[in-house]
Amino acid sequence: MVEHVRDYLEQHQERFVGELVEFLKIPSVSADSTLKAETRRGAEFVQQQMKAAGLESRLIETAGHPIVYGSWKKAEGKPTVLVYGHYDVQPPDPLDQWETPPFEPDIRDGHIYARGATDDKGQMYTHIKSVEAWMKTQGELPVNVVFVIEGEEEVGSDNLDRFLAENKDLVACDIAVISDTSQYAPGIPAITYGLRGILACEVIVNGPRQDLHSGVFGGAVTNPANGLARMVAALHDDQGRVQIPGFYDNVIELKQEERDQFAALPFDEAKFMSDLGVKAVSGEADFSTLERRWARPTCDVNGMVSGYTGEGPKTIVPAQARVKISCRLVPDQDPAALTRALEQFLLEQLPAGLTMQFIDYHGCKGLVFDFNSPYMAAARTAIEQAFGTAPVMIREGGSIPVVETFQSLVGVETLLLGWGQNTDNLHSPNERFSLEAFRQGTLASALLWQEMANIQV
Ligand code: BES
Ligand code: ZN
Repeated sequence: MVEHVRDYLEQHQERFVGELVEFLKIPSVSADSTLKAETRRGAEFVQQQMKAAGLESRLIETAGHPIVYGSWKKAEGKPTVLVYGHYDVQPPDPLDQWETPPFEPDIRDGHIYARGATDDKGQMYTHIKSVEAWMKTQGELPVNVVFVIEGEEEVGSDNLDRFLAENKDLVACDIAVISDTSQYAPGIPAITYGLRGILACEVIVNGPRQDLHSGVFGGAVTNPANGLARMVAALHDDQGRVQIPGFYDNVIELKQEERDQFAALPFDEAKFMSDLGVKAVSGEADFSTLERRWARPTCDVNGMVSGYTGEGPKTIVPAQARVKISCRLVPDQDPAALTRALEQFLLEQLPAGLTMQFIDYHGCKGLVFDFNSPYMAAARTAIEQAFGTAPVMIREGGSIPVVETFQSLVGVETLLLGWGQNTDNLHSPNERFSLEAFRQGTLASALLWQEMANIQV
């Protein structure tokens, strides 16, 4: 029976790639309000694909971008799996660094290059195609499925939580599945059992009413750019520790056992550095690179601008300076409390003569799952069969806000089954997704439904 599903996936692989190309042409950048209609087109594409796969599906309007909902619930007595993914993508900037334009998908060296290729259009698409293969060959699925594909993941998923809270019956399930993370490395598939949380904000520092001549006025009024640089510099000490009061209070320290597990994973620091084009790694003292990335909290500037940044010199004291900051959080840090602590800390650092405005964007908690559930076991088997090698268990440093909501509101754990690679340039120029990973991920998804059908509910 599964053989027919496999055959179908193989026979239709080329068409799937062609469809993914069409999907990737849609510039569904959720952060860009001028692309609202295009983002909606992304949702419509997904809805139509769900329908073609044999799911019942519809668009659900929100205060922001629509949610695509799909379901098939005729496997009586079998588990219900909720598949989450997102059709929105990050802004493609800096545009001049793309080898081929971000919304003109290009296939070269075994990869498809486009914004959203791995994050998350390509990965999410594997689950729609696996459903299609079951429905077209068997006329049914071995489990019940519910799909929730949103368009605001890259901007903090603000409207999704309300949808989940108001539609508990629609999203009731036994387990959630998300393919929006990475494999551990090429040839080493992984199941991710922990994610970092996040808090994101923007700080605007204002000085004089307008830009001033730096010779006439410089030295007599506080320069907002100089001032903001001092404030940002105060965020860390020289050991890489974040200086926001209370920042580490609720951090659950790594146990030796988990440190040993991380250390047992193959990790080539020299290759890591050369991949990223850096000459050294850095961060909190006394932690390894994997520990720093997966299990320690951070505070990073995401962008900082002030004054004249055009060609040639210009001698001014700028009127304003702005910075976007995000902190990655680990269990049990509280994003809301730390957002307030960050604002308070920055206010205390604010030099005299400047005023500060603080914009709180979004936040979510970090989490870690127990990895001994029957669903984890099912995922392990499916991945091993599809990828030809058993997955390793890893944590990841990125955030997927809805995972916390699935836990607290729907009461289920999430299987984070990433088919991408961290070297696929997600959020960066030349984002890509391996066609082989696309094929293997689709097969793993198809096998996962079969494996989960054996779980008693
Ligand atoms: N797919 C990523 C998250 C991710 C990437 C997890 C790689 C693990 C490994 C996701 O789309 C993402 O980028 N999320 C944002 C969330 C934020 C905007 C709330 C992130 O982590 O920055
Ligand atoms: Zn993503």
